Amino acid sequence: MKILIIGSGGREHAMAWKVAQSPRLTKLYIAPGNAGTASCGENVVLDLEDHSAIIRFCKEKQIDLVLIGPEGPLAAGLADSLSAAGIRCFGPRKAAAQIEASKVFAKNFMARYRIPTARYATFNQFEKAVHYLQSIDYPIVIKASGLAAGKGVVLPESLDEAKATLESMLVNKIFGDAGDEVVIEERLIGEEVSLMAFTDGETVVPMLAAQDHKRLLDADCGPNTGGMGAYAPAPIFTADLMNEAIEKILKPAINGLRFEGAAFVGVLYAGLILTLRPAQGRASNELRVLEFNCRFGDPETQAVLPLLETDLLDIAEACVNATLNQFDIRWKDGASVCVVLASKGYPEKAESGKIVSFEALPEDVFCFHAGTKTESGRVITAGGRVFGLTVASNSIESAIEAAYSNIRNVSFEGMQYRRDIARRAL
Ligand code: AMP
Ligand code: GLY
Repeated sequence: MKILIIGSGGREHAMAWKVAQSPRLTKLYIAPGNAGTASCGENVVLDLEDHSAIIRFCKEKQIDLVLIGPEGPLAAGLADSLSAAGIRCFGPRKAAAQIEASKVFAKNFMARYRIPTARYATFNQFEKAVHYLQSIDYPIVIKASGLAAGKGVVLPESLDEAKATLESMLVNKIFGDAGDEVVIEERLIGEEVSLMAFTDGETVVPMLAAQDHKRLLDADCGPNTGGMGAYAPAPIFTADLMNEAIEKILKPAINGLRFEGAAFVGVLYAGLILTLRPAQGRASNELRVLEFNCRFGDPETQAVLPLLETDLLDIAEACVNATLNQFDIRWKDGASVCVVLASKGYPEKAESGKIVSFEALPEDVFCFHAGTKTESGRVITAGGRVFGLTVASNSIESAIEAAYSNIRNVSFEGMQYRRDIARRAL
């Protein structure tokens, strides 16, 4: 198979690394890729907004399947354009990608199918939103409805901060069109779990549950980031919770989208929170959805794919051909940990252009590249999250130990990382 992967982050390096192991692969292209993906296949420069250029490339190179990593091209309808040109694509069409690209759509969709989530209201007028704030008496979260590169969610600590946030989104348009509408929802408390699932639009098969670490600093302090590290499987996510998630969240979501004429093919990511529910005097856990994403998570994918036994190309093909129900997806035993190595200044204003030096890494330690590029034969930093140093091992303890003891083999000026990735799994 000749494959094209779209994207350039740690997620896409992990996808490329996994695809490169497939005996069915004859040629792999990554557009635009990074310095790491260049060791799995050939990086190519394509304008991701120019769908006809991508179609021309696929026809010329006889691409059998395109795997789309990031949400942007999915929300912009790249899967629709490719399918219309007869090119097979792993990743949902625009209508299904709405589940991530519009938080207003996602919340109303969850309400329609009784998928458990935080109570909410949506607004496109500042005055009405403020009036609503004054009518409720619980802590809230404010979310720009559209795609805002992970920055569109604010957890205000006071009424004044909440008003200022609404003003910045609805009046001052700091997120442009993405903030034309906002969701105000109840703030929930609990542990978060990232549950990704493969789906062909009808059958849905969950991956191992993972946990991300969103805050910049140890002990979940500091600003929110795209994710500072991840591990899988998440021990807190018991088999009972997995069954509950399949029955109450994943299946209703996939069926709901299909009923609405927007069958979802690709990876559906459910960002879940485990809240405490007082039940007849005894507290028990309750699962609720914080968000859906229409793609693999990052950094979760860097932790999850090293534990995947089955060929990713076989899975992607089963999704595209709608034969996932006849397919068996296998996972390795053990656990995996990914520690993100980030640039100085991330997430506000990350440095770039720093030269990276590497010592040889043991075979079972993977240094997935996120923000890197090659310049005059050297690897230099080119973004906030630079690497995901990942180890799959027979236990979470040994994976943590191996990941941290190998960080010294990678260095660049200003490198920062959390010291407590996966500790909460112990
Ligand atoms: P989202 O993009 O909607 O997942 O939001 C990003 C992050 O904001 C989540 O991973 C949570 O840490 C936090 N968050 C979002 N919604 C809520 C909520 N209703 N209650 C508490 N935290 C939330
Ligand atoms: N790690 C969160 C995300 O991929 O959206």
